[in-house]
Amino acid sequence: MRLEKYIATSGIASRRAVKRAIREGRVTVNGTEIFIPGHPIDVERDCIEFEGKRVEPLTERIYLMLNKPAGYLTTRRDERGRPTVMDLLTDLPKSIYPVGRLDLETEGLLLFTNDGNFANRMMHPSHEIDKTYLAWVNGVPSQRALERLRNGVAIHGGKTAPAKIKQLDVKAAPMPSANSNKRKNGIVAKLRVIIHEGKKRQVRLMFKAVGHRVIRLKRTHIGELGLGNLPQGQYRFLTPTEIAKLQV
Ligand code: URA
Repeated sequence: MRLEKYIATSGIASRRAVKRAIREGRVTVNGTEIFIPGHPIDVERDCIEFEGKRVEPLTERIYLMLNKPAGYLTTRRDERGRPTVMDLLTDLPKSIYPVGRLDLETEGLLLFTNDGNFANRMMHPSHEIDKTYLAWVNGVPSQRALERLRNGVAIHGGKTAPAKIKQLDVKAAPMPSANSNKRKNGIVAKLRVIIHEGKKRQVRLMFKAVGHRVIRLKRTHIGELGLGNLPQGQYRFLTPTEIAKLQV
């Protein structure tokens, strides 16, 4: 991995600040000053110091967020060779895995870790961590449909827990869809949906139950942790404060 990428993804400083620090000799690799941002490092062995502070090696506990694009499977390996989220996590130890899952066509915040206890706690239903989604749906849900969604609708043979739903926008123009084949003319409503359950295809099935098709879905938050301006397809490490806030 490139030295600047290793340090920047650890969250210590922005990419630009890291590059400047390297050029100014404020970064060492195994005790030697390195002035070239693209200097190749071994993420599992090299000891990197940024302004005298050790940048934690990536072999220890890892917690990171990916802004998942549509079209990537949430799995570590696909037998049919389709793109998976792991393809977007280059230069990282193979021991990390996704915490929960997003559908193939769902975008947004996906956590990864190599900390099994953390992953189990995050996914355990008893913790009821809020997950916030933006959903673009065909047509404008009526007040009655919104109330039904808020109170719970029948999916997978059971009733969904109460949800928070807010309509944010209605557009006559086609909304950009993750899958261009699914572009639709007509009215598209954009809603914010907050749920704490993780049933399979839950948000899509909830809207289906009230007669609307989700044409784009993006998870923006898990608890208080948000995607911020992380570009699509990119990942970054969580800061210690972010990790602490997620500990349940
Ligand atoms: N709900 C869905 O329908 N899909 C997801 O990927 C996540 C939540």
